[in-house]
Amino acid sequence: MTFTPRSRWADAPESVRAAVAEALGTTIAGHTDLHGGMSPGPAVNLRLADGRQVFVKAVSAEVRAHNHRMIRQESDILDVLPETVPAPRRLATVESGPWIALATTWAPGVTEATWSDTSISAVVNACRAASRHRPAGTLPPVVQRVFDFDGWARLPAIGPADDWEAAHAEPAAAVVAGWEHWTSGGALVHRDVRLDNTTVDALSGRAVLLDWAYAAAGAPWIDLAQMAADVVATGHVLGPRIATDRAHRLLRALPPEASRFVIGLAGMWTIRAATIPDTVMPGISRWRRARAAALRPLVTRLLSELPSDPRRDGPGQILM
Ligand SMILES: Nc1ncnc2c1ncn2[C@@H]1O[C@H](COP(=O)(O)OP(=O)(O)O)[C@@H](O)[C@H]1O
Ligand SMILES: [Mg+2]
Repeated sequence: MTFTPRSRWADAPESVRAAVAEALGTTIAGHTDLHGGMSPGPAVNLRLADGRQVFVKAVSAEVRAHNHRMIRQESDILDVLPETVPAPRRLATVESGPWIALATTWAPGVTEATWSDTSISAVVNACRAASRHRPAGTLPPVVQRVFDFDGWARLPAIGPADDWEAAHAEPAAAVVAGWEHWTSGGALVHRDVRLDNTTVDALSGRAVLLDWAYAAAGAPWIDLAQMAADVVATGHVLGPRIATDRAHRLLRALPPEASRFVIGLAGMWTIRAATIPDTVMPGISRWRRARAAALRPLVTRLLSELPSDPRRDGPGQILM
């Protein structure tokens, strides 16, 4: 989903479009604007005169400086991903005035709006394939790419929104505590696995992970935990109970830290919805609130299964 409708490729300055074509060494024969993702600049499928299809996203720092920085960051990250990671390959990055554009290989398949068992299994395999790699030394530890994980601990100070939050904030804060340590590890982590950051090719059953700006070094289960949370928050074609069930199944196969991570994400969405205004991205508070609400049944269940003070049990085992 997007919060600000993406601008159209045709409305990007001619100098930017020409610089992209020049960097790709050909002319652009046609294009189709894409509408998903989280940033306001154009995202587009380009058909090139030499027959290739490529993906390009672009943004002006004057529209949103953060996304400009993220495209630069993603460009650097794509260059250090091993060939065997299921990711697009960077073809070019061009800067023109306040604009930046990133061109990558086109990922086969479709970005679905709702999870299905087919996409779950394809993306699980993609996450596992990615996490078998060691991260390049230039990638930061995941602690630098996780934000507001102290959401549950901060909630009592601003006041819980209802009885559920009042009852669950404290035990949730207890299981998330120490996340700076138990999320660390030596695996390549995408760190932003959501259905809208994937394509799934139904024919081959393979998925590609897109949008690598937050990649990091961390525990090998992080992308699967993030994915489990997204199955619930984005939804499953068979409805919310199945979504929660599928997420729980994924987590059952992972170390308990993965469940703690999901509870941390729910706290992050809760505190962000409550404290960060909508001014930059209209609608994002509602989106965050909806994600936190969708996760409540799963969080309730995970809290009942986890030891109330996991720190007493010592460091968890890494099972995958
Ligand atoms: N390499 C690619 N091949 C095909 N489609 C892609 C590719 N990269 C991104 N997309 C599509 O474009 C959308 C936006 O791209 P993304 O990189 O996620 O942008 P944002 O940073 O704005 O979230 C994605 O949701 C996906 O549908
Ligand atoms: Mg994205």
